[in-house]
Amino acid sequence: KTLDELGDLRGRRVLVRSDLNVPIEGAPDAPRITDDGRIRASLPTIQALVGKGARVVVVAHLGRPKGAPDPKYTLAPVAARLAELLGAPVAFAADTVGDEARAAVDGLGDGQVALLENLRFNAGETSKDDAERGAFADALVALLGEGGAYVGDGFGAVHRKHASVYDVPQRVPAAVGGLVLAEVEVLRRLTSPERPYAVVLGGSKVSDKLGVIDNLLGVLESGDALLVGGGMLFTFLKSQGLEVGKSLLEEDQLDTVRGYAARAQEKGVRLLLPTDVVVATAFAADADPQVVAADAIPADRLGLDIGPESAQAFADAIRGARTVFWNGPMGVFEMEPYAGGTRAVAQGLADATASGALTVVGGGDSAAAVRALGFDESSFGHISTGGGASLEYLEGKQLPGLTALGA
Ligand code: 3PG
Repeated sequence: KTLDELGDLRGRRVLVRSDLNVPIEGAPDAPRITDDGRIRASLPTIQALVGKGARVVVVAHLGRPKGAPDPKYTLAPVAARLAELLGAPVAFAADTVGDEARAAVDGLGDGQVALLENLRFNAGETSKDDAERGAFADALVALLGEGGAYVGDGFGAVHRKHASVYDVPQRVPAAVGGLVLAEVEVLRRLTSPERPYAVVLGGSKVSDKLGVIDNLLGVLESGDALLVGGGMLFTFLKSQGLEVGKSLLEEDQLDTVRGYAARAQEKGVRLLLPTDVVVATAFAADADPQVVAADAIPADRLGLDIGPESAQAFADAIRGARTVFWNGPMGVFEMEPYAGGTRAVAQGLADATASGALTVVGGGDSAAAVRALGFDESSFGHISTGGGASLEYLEGKQLPGLTALGA
């Protein structure tokens, strides 16, 4: 069901599960949201419900608190930012299903919005026990009363079998939100891409991406390319017999990675690994960064970015593609000496977009990276709000939040 299929929503309470899991820095009394992309991406659905005169009850998680209130993970700063972006008040409840939540929900007029405190302050939200999760889902549903409805719009959390994602939509009339629909539509296009198709993978661990690499190698064909950067590139280099010094290395994945290289070769897929890297003496901006060839990494140094020659080669390969999927930074982009690779890849995607390619930035860190590096969102075909969710979708897994919505 879509929003419109929920019928007349005027005066009805609608629980919206959004993904408002944004990075927050600073002291608890002066929190600063460093990237509000997920809040902005959640606005259209909330605004649509406001426009329909619904009484909008937004629920979300922040970070990974351990099933009990933890001031470090309060959604209060998110409520303030949401109100600013909506240009309307947001009633924030300091609990999720308690007296405050009930009061906030009871106080809503038609077209007004409340945000309840972090779902994960309640053990039932993430419980593996169906009954415990179900009881928490019942408590959320009870807030809605007669005529209540649910909208699943938190794409970044659809891969979680959590009460607000999976159990609530099975208890009340439920619809899939516009953000989830848009994300799924783009990711679906990546399963039968226009070619050449370039996949750019970064991030620290290859073990986090095994399923997705497997699946992508199924989709990639002769003439397509798989570009590998980030911390995981060193496991690839090592698997080819190169020394990687003190760089991140997953010894137990060397055989797997060799298998990927063999499969890529068999299929005529170009596996592009860096030919140079930026190395340093420690994980710090001032640790004497230097560019070295990928086959000459000193034993006492660790790699923190792909080098300039590789950055150029990666950007060129990306510019030549008709479809590009990018997940994971190429280096420690938060520190300027190691931002060059990520910047070059982002620029490659921006250029490819300009020449008509479908470019998709796959969530989490890469989305934050393109914004932190000053790129305009319109430079990309789609910036996914889901890191883990987009990868699991591309792995071909059943995602609980989509299953529950029949999406
Ligand atoms: C994310 O940040 O990818 C989503 O908000 C999901 O968060 P989680 O990995 O803590 O479930």
